[in-house]
Amino acid sequence: MEIDDARSLAHALQKLVHEAYNLIDESRPIPVLVSRVTGHLSCELKSVVCVTQSFRNWELASLHQGVGAYLEARGGADWFGVSGQGREHNDTIDILTTAGRVEQYDIGAVDYATVSVGPDETMEVVSFGLALTTAPDGAPVVIGLRGPAEEYGREGCRVEVIATSRESATAAREEIERLMRLKDALRGQILTFGVSEHRGNSLVTFLPRPSLGPAEVILPEGVLETVERHVAGIGEHAEALLARGQHLKRGLLLHGPPGTGKTHTVRYLMGRMPGVTVLVMAGTAMRFISEAAALARRLQPAIVVVEDVDLVAHDRRFSDEGSPLLFTLFDAMDGIGADADVTFVLTTNRAEVLEEALANRPGRVDLAVEVPRPDARCRLALLRLYGAASVAESDLEPLVARTDGMTASFFKELLRRAVLVSLREGPTGTTPSAAHLSAALEEMLRGHEALTRSLLGAPRPALRHAHETNGADGL
Ligand SMILES: Nc1ncnc2c1ncn2[C@@H]1O[C@H](COP(=O)(O)OP(=O)(O)OP(=O)(O)O)[C@@H](O)[C@H]1O
Ligand SMILES: [Mg+2]
Repeated sequence: MEIDDARSLAHALQKLVHEAYNLIDESRPIPVLVSRVTGHLSCELKSVVCVTQSFRNWELASLHQGVGAYLEARGGADWFGVSGQGREHNDTIDILTTAGRVEQYDIGAVDYATVSVGPDETMEVVSFGLALTTAPDGAPVVIGLRGPAEEYGREGCRVEVIATSRESATAAREEIERLMRLKDALRGQILTFGVSEHRGNSLVTFLPRPSLGPAEVILPEGVLETVERHVAGIGEHAEALLARGQHLKRGLLLHGPPGTGKTHTVRYLMGRMPGVTVLVMAGTAMRFISEAAALARRLQPAIVVVEDVDLVAHDRRFSDEGSPLLFTLFDAMDGIGADADVTFVLTTNRAEVLEEALANRPGRVDLAVEVPRPDARCRLALLRLYGAASVAESDLEPLVARTDGMTASFFKELLRRAVLVSLREGPTGTTPSAAHLSAALEEMLRGHEALTRSLLGAPRPALRHAHETNGADGL
């Protein structure tokens, strides 16, 4: 064989293989998943654009509602899903591109998830789905909704808008976000940040709104009124204050020994202000203070409660932003804007720890209120509140005299023990008598109960002085 013949044979064979390959490739039907998208957009995959916006895990219900409202406004749309391995790891546009080349993905069932939208309320939301609709300018778009896939290492939820032009995609995304904010699922709720079982991710938990009457909060004359005026009163006059150039943002510090009612007072305020969003930050949740402050600003009127802020002041760990937590807290308080109807309520039983930090960066706390140990009048009221309502005042007086320095927590436990004493005697009346109360008090004051006493907030003799000089008068 001549060399030229060999060459042309090789050439012909190469061409044959190539054409056969093309033939096989073209004979593979385009998966319905791809044709549904490209058919709707009337263009090939390689010329589409995709705009994505991510949100934190706890925004999924709001995002779902926002997308739902968007689709509804355009005549509704049916969701469809994607089947195939590895889809959780990939963006929808990558899934579509891959599906066009190899047999990996196709149309599948829509994934739904159940998320909380209240203390006892849940909602079914799309956690992996696509819908065909139009952009505000009328151009066809495909919306993808994706929830967190923590088990696959994907945090946060997101909306993807696939369109033929960036303008259409962006306009659709903006409109979805606007609708999402109109009916935010977190608005008006009491929320606390926690840690999920998956990879320590952040989670939001909904708490029921307490309903406490003023008669259930036993404090020295005027204290509750002062607190309420500062937190609720300013909010009630928000518009008039703003119109007169006054700021709305406020900071309240409640300080006093353990068990005297700081948290109790906060709970009273929450009940007193229905519809106000409350973000409760305690312990490890402090890491999310910046997010909480941003949420508070967005969902105002809002209250951000930072419990046991002295622990934060001591915490040498750094927040996500890279500064000590206390400064992150201050920055969050500063960053919220004076015109925001947001109250920061800080509680501590060690005001002196904070005093210097707060004095160095003034303007964060505009009211510091001491929640002291109950005086005789308050101790009598606490006895009455927690179960001795029917005992004659003259019988309660000796108890009041003997419980100087004890806190409200102590009285709650005292009443429980008195009920136990009465039960030991057999089923008598429904409330304990003065004798039962005295017996219970004896039990609690006995030497070996010293630890119980201090756990309930009673001053230990050696520490008494230290406690009493704990006031934050300089704040
Ligand atoms: N002033 C009060 N009036 C009525 N009940 C109270 C009062 N203070 C406390 N209690 C009762 O005692 C419980 C414990 O009090 P609370 O948690 O408010 O203490 P605290 O001041 O926040 O203490 P800590 O500094 O340890 O956080 C409350 O749940 C409430 O039932
Ligand atoms: Mg507390």
